[in-house]
Amino acid sequence: MARAIAHGRTPVAAFSDPTAMALLSAEQRAEVEQIRQGPRPKGWRARFRYEHLTRESQMMVARTVAIDADLRNAAAPQVVILGAGLDGRAWRMRELATSLVFEVDHPDTQRQKLQRVASLTREARDVRFVPVDFRGGDLAHALEAAGHDPHLPTAWLWEGVVMYLDRDQIETTLRIVEDRSAPGSRLIVAYHQPALMLLLLAVIVFGRADSHCAHAAPDAEAASPLRVLYALGPRSSRHRM
Ligand SMILES: C[S@@+](CC[C@H](N)C(=O)[O-])C[C@H]1O[C@@H](n2cnc3c(N)ncnc32)[C@H](O)[C@@H]1O
Repeated sequence: MARAIAHGRTPVAAFSDPTAMALLSAEQRAEVEQIRQGPRPKGWRARFRYEHLTRESQMMVARTVAIDADLRNAAAPQVVILGAGLDGRAWRMRELATSLVFEVDHPDTQRQKLQRVASLTREARDVRFVPVDFRGGDLAHALEAAGHDPHLPTAWLWEGVVMYLDRDQIETTLRIVEDRSAPGSRLIVAYHQPALMLLLLAVIVFGRADSHCAHAAPDAEAASPLRVLYALGPRSSRHRM
């Protein structure tokens, strides 16, 4: 939703996401349209939601621009998006025209995405959908079966996901990333620390944490993914935010 709110409205010229609206549900699209048109709602509940989403959209603009630039620089033949959610890069980034994109996500989330991308035109060379639950799923096998080649460089993107996982799940995933990273690969990780009080308030007010992550909730154990990443070593990893 945050990217759909910002598209065409942010003063940041480098940001554009024409796919964001198409990837939302009808209910989410209606809410985004209301926010885009303004004015600020008066009731406290609607106002809280409005302020939360508009600020999130500013953060997403910065995050998206930074990651897009990194992916462009990587110019990798393979891109693996871990926890892809409503990421629209394979349908909006012309720079991926020679890249094979693997969208890894929880099966429940991916089911919705598959229906919604039908209306979009792909920019990437190809997109392969890889349903995996990081909590116990076999990522290595799923990637192998989908045609990921560990002998070719890969740009791995793990954006807005690690805070839903515990330390073991993060470590297991990182070892697979490392094993399948040929020289020239890079890992882009973007996450925020769970703001537990804010999250609790959002759940109380709206009865949900994040509608497209219904199977997951930020994990208190994952409060320090940066420490986990550094403990594992920087061979193929690089940090952002
Ligand atoms: C907040 S969304 C971020 C989506 C996208 N990367 C982005 O930045 O817009 C979190 C994503 O993590 C995925 N996710 C959370 N827990 C997961 C798990 N255990 N296994 C697979 N995916 C998971 C969700 O399905 C969702 O797509």
